[in-house]
Amino acid sequence: MKILGLETSCDETAAGVVEDGVRLISNVVASQARLHAPYGGVVPELASREHEVNLLPVTEAALEPVGGLRGVDALAVTVGPGLQGSLLVGMTFAKAVAHAAGLPAYAVNHLEGHLAALRLMDGPPEPPFAALLATGGHTALYDVVGWGDYRLLGETRDDAAGEAFDKVARLLGMPYPGGPPLERAAAGGATAFEFPRPMLGRGLSFSFAGLKTAVALKVKELGEEETARRRADLAASFQEAAVGVLAAKALRACEELGRERLAVVGGVAANRRLREIIAAGDVEPYWPPAELCGDNGAMVAAAGFMAAARGEVLDEAADPAPSAAIG
Ligand code: KG4
Ligand code: ZN
Repeated sequence: MKILGLETSCDETAAGVVEDGVRLISNVVASQARLHAPYGGVVPELASREHEVNLLPVTEAALEPVGGLRGVDALAVTVGPGLQGSLLVGMTFAKAVAHAAGLPAYAVNHLEGHLAALRLMDGPPEPPFAALLATGGHTALYDVVGWGDYRLLGETRDDAAGEAFDKVARLLGMPYPGGPPLERAAAGGATAFEFPRPMLGRGLSFSFAGLKTAVALKVKELGEEETARRRADLAASFQEAAVGVLAAKALRACEELGRERLAVVGGVAANRRLREIIAAGDVEPYWPPAELCGDNGAMVAAAGFMAAARGEVLDEAADPAPSAAIG
């Protein structure tokens, strides 16, 4: 069964084709990063409009290897969580295409999509395993008891990890999205500053607002010139604190649950320092290839296969679910 997956929940317009939920056929992503960069974050109105412009060409490109729409058996589309207007563009498009082509369409939760990206790996993790999901909008730990059976162990009380990377990068004069440039800068710096590791000792919940504020205060204290001079050190020190907390809590979750496998998904999973710390832990680590960590259509197609098995049909009257959850 070949599924076309469509993703427009945030600032990536993406489409991908996956066979039987596990075999990647195509994955096309149009990033809006440059459009939103001047604003330092995603502008919802601009995002919806850009999805409208990009969705058709991105979908056509994703369908090319299977010879167009006739080459797929079903559609899958993200219905939440995400930006209301952006979700609406993708869902309306999916409904129209499914209706016109006489194909079934399935509703996908974006967070299950990030987890489903693991199924596209060579040698994916077998449930049960623990999963750390860290994106620009979410930071959570799950116990993946089985595919479709997720238990939420803890999540962020305020900012998401990716959001913290974006905000700190902005403070240091780096472009949006801040994760990649901040990681590059950190590679050339030393962890010279002591930043707080919020809630490190307490439970499996996260908090990143205090860490971001600590960096902001330090930047103010140093002043413009000194901040610019110490940029790499500031980046390295922030990164060490942020991914240190993520890794420590994820590894602790494994210990508490007796899980031997730990998966890391979402945009922040691309961070090499995070991977390094987790790989040094007492678990078998898993992460999707970088192009499947960030938002993409293939992960939606992979999750769509599971949604189809559960009969989660996209109702023609379905509305977006901006704050949908799993677990
Ligand atoms: O999963 P994703 O593409 O979109 C959401 O669902 O939010 O995640 C995007 C987030 C952004 O905040 C971005 O700065 C962050 O992931 N990110 C990174 C790295 N690459 C992307 N954060 C840290 N290190 C990276 N290498
Ligand atoms: Zn995402």
